[in-house]
Amino acid sequence: MNIELKYFTGTGNSLKVIKTCASVFSGSGNNVKISEISTDETTVPESDLTGFCFPVYAFGIPRICRQYLQGLEKFKNLQKVFVLITAGDIDESGYATQECEKILSKKNCEIIYTDVIQMPVNWTTSPKPPFPPSKEEALEIIVEGVAKTQNIAEEILEGVKRKHSFNYPKRYSKIKFHWDYLIFKHLGIKHMWRLFNVYDTCNGCRLCSKICPTNSISMIGKKPIWNSTCEQCMRCVNFCPNESIYQTQGGETKGRNRYYEPGFNPRHNDHK
Ligand SMILES: Cc1cc2nc3c(=O)[nH]c(=O)nc-3n(C[C@H](O)[C@H](O)[C@H](O)COP(=O)(O)O)c2cc1C
Ligand code: SF4
Ligand code: SF4
Repeated sequence: MNIELKYFTGTGNSLKVIKTCASVFSGSGNNVKISEISTDETTVPESDLTGFCFPVYAFGIPRICRQYLQGLEKFKNLQKVFVLITAGDIDESGYATQECEKILSKKNCEIIYTDVIQMPVNWTTSPKPPFPPSKEEALEIIVEGVAKTQNIAEEILEGVKRKHSFNYPKRYSKIKFHWDYLIFKHLGIKHMWRLFNVYDTCNGCRLCSKICPTNSISMIGKKPIWNSTCEQCMRCVNFCPNESIYQTQGGETKGRNRYYEPGFNPRHNDHK
């Protein structure tokens, strides 16, 4: 089979999951291509199977992933598709798989498999817990996430069909859930770039600006300045060598763990 895999990642979890699928698929003799999504692309090459993997942000998919899926042209032939979502907590994945299904079902796709994989939380500036785990805890979560992904990839090859079903997060009321989902989707992400700031430990090294997946940081002299294309992916926050980045209004990061998937190194763009 020819298999096309597309992903977006802030801190490497979704890339780890899609690479795990790729290794199972190619281990069974399939021809696999992986690439990062770009909103400039309007087509995905026709193949025997297409897989998407995105993180969940505030109970939905990142804005860039929504724009990318919405911007895709209809596949000419009915395209078999699977969608995997990485989440800090499976119980809190909200509408992420359903959002993808809804968009892809209008693009001549047969959605054969959707699921959510728990990976470490990367939202270091979150106004409330859960915050990123320690390195040791993170490794345990990754091992489990990879094992689950391997099973999923094997099931997909065997032709098993499965759909992840929606649930309300246990710690939320229905009203609070919908409020948070809609506010973040329609308002929050547009404005949260304004909350970024740096502690005086920032030495102007420019790394944040170089590794941002959406080119949302400019350097004015030695100071990083964020702009509105920011997706809140947390890559800059978690990779800053001096742990200098925080957000106002509850996003103080002093004393919090930093997290990125240990094999992920955007400094060399080797994930692309
Ligand atoms: C802004 C933001 C919002 C998030 N919201 C949720 C959420 O609603 N539910 C959840 O389970 N995890 C949430 N997370 C955690 C991420 O989904 C999780 O860590 C994911 O695996 C990160 O993937 P990546 O490394 O590919 O970027 C959020 C992370 C960020 C940065
Ligand atoms: S990576 Fe950190 S220290 Fe370097 S410029 Fe950005 S905020 Fe400052
Ligand atoms: S500015 Fe930081 S949080 Fe925003 S998209 Fe770029 S790396 Fe991610």
